[in-house]
Amino acid sequence: MDEPLRLRPRLEPPLASLVQAGSFLHALVDALGSPLNVLLPEQAAENARRFRSVYRAHHLAGRVHFAHKANQSSALLRRLAAEDPAAVGVDVASLGELRHALGSGFTPDRIMATGPKDPEFLWLAARTGVTVNLDSRHELEQLAALVRKYGLPRVDVLLRLSGFEAADREEPGVRLRSRRSRFGSSVGEVDELLTTVERHRDAIELTGTAYHLDTTGVAEKVRALERCVLVMDECRARGLAPRVVDIGGGFGTGYLADAAEWEHYLSALTEAVLGTRPALTWRGHGYGLRNEGGTVRGNAALYPAYRAIAGPDYLAELLTTPAPALGRPAADLLLEHMYDLCAEPGRALVDQCGLSLARVLDVRRTGEGDHLVRLGLNAGDMSLEEHGVLVDPVLLPRDGAEEGGGTGPVGVYLVGNLCLEADLITRRKVFLPRLPRPGDLLAFANTAGYAMDFHAHHAQRQPLARTVAAVEEGGAWRWCLDEDYWPIPHSGGEFA
Ligand SMILES: Cc1ncc(COP(=O)(O)O)c(C=O)c1O
Repeated sequence: MDEPLRLRPRLEPPLASLVQAGSFLHALVDALGSPLNVLLPEQAAENARRFRSVYRAHHLAGRVHFAHKANQSSALLRRLAAEDPAAVGVDVASLGELRHALGSGFTPDRIMATGPKDPEFLWLAARTGVTVNLDSRHELEQLAALVRKYGLPRVDVLLRLSGFEAADREEPGVRLRSRRSRFGSSVGEVDELLTTVERHRDAIELTGTAYHLDTTGVAEKVRALERCVLVMDECRARGLAPRVVDIGGGFGTGYLADAAEWEHYLSALTEAVLGTRPALTWRGHGYGLRNEGGTVRGNAALYPAYRAIAGPDYLAELLTTPAPALGRPAADLLLEHMYDLCAEPGRALVDQCGLSLARVLDVRRTGEGDHLVRLGLNAGDMSLEEHGVLVDPVLLPRDGAEEGGGTGPVGVYLVGNLCLEADLITRRKVFLPRLPRPGDLLAFANTAGYAMDFHAHHAQRQPLARTVAAVEEGGAWRWCLDEDYWPIPHSGGEFA
């Protein structure tokens, strides 16, 4: 029999108690269908407060901006809009997100427009007075031209920088490039960029610098932060008056409860790729690892699903790490210059904020003896796998019977509702406490960050998941449709 390799999800209250509320979740899926997303807007507000408490510990001013791209929900945005306006804002990366943020109660001073922008997005941002985080010199020129052409108010802008490199004095003889990015202007071209800013001073006001690095490496991020501060010094020497450093997102989330399970799984995967233990994955998929003549090559394309330090704790680590050239902690650099800090957490801000539910439709055995569990959802509806996040779902039996019993732990492959070979919910064998039965539910925890609606589509006219907002009050769960949620108690669109 296969060794049951578990990857149990990290569940904290109130998500832990939601997962326990089997009959409530079954009733929701009976009413609204499978798949179904359940969100906890109160937890998003709590996460924003945790980020802000790290700012406070370092006496730093500035907002935490939720990176809207992580989730399309209205409830999350409206709940965050109800937080302290000086503390919480939103980062929007499209015209649609900007419209949604404005309509959810965010005033323009709390909105940061990031990413590459089309003219309509730039126009609405400028028209309403949103801060524009400029992706390139070309975008700067475009924005200035729009402001002049349509008589728009002067726009606050940040310069997003990229291509940070270790200075020679830091590590003599070593040219350390940071992760390459398609976005932002190269820090090597800052002089030209500032000349362009000066030329357009009638249309824009430079209020800061920014970066977003898609890496877990703290050292790389502190180097980028330090360069931003140095560039701001240069700005001040030229008579400009920037006052905020935007450090982007990427604070991460810990998905798994147990470090040992994660490490054990990774070594078992390596052994399976080498063929020294039975396959753990569908058709021998290696998640980027391959066997070359008895040696494992390649890199596992997996998110570090167990993380001892993530979210606000990661921010705290970043702020206390000494800057490579100036030698002082990053927080001190900001404080000495009296610069505000702006962070844009996406995934980490919606940590523990929701789950995705799928009904078990069918369970059968392949000719090779594998169990296939077909679910009422597809890989676009629940895309943890797409993001390389490996974590077990929780089995919620239909009849409220205990999870285990009957067959005992069993390894299954979870497949989706599309008539497509590739529609696998996970490409690894997932161990459940017993063989599921049609009508049972599987709850995928912690999907609010990118995994519940980022990749959802209408293929085969399968239904898109409905999304509900839920809150626990006096030991009972109450809910309403995401679109009906407003952060005021006892109004019309109130929790049912
Ligand atoms: C500019 C910017 N800010 C913030 C984020 C959010 O990143 P995360 O969800 O990893 O915190 C992203 C993600 O792509 C981004 O591009």
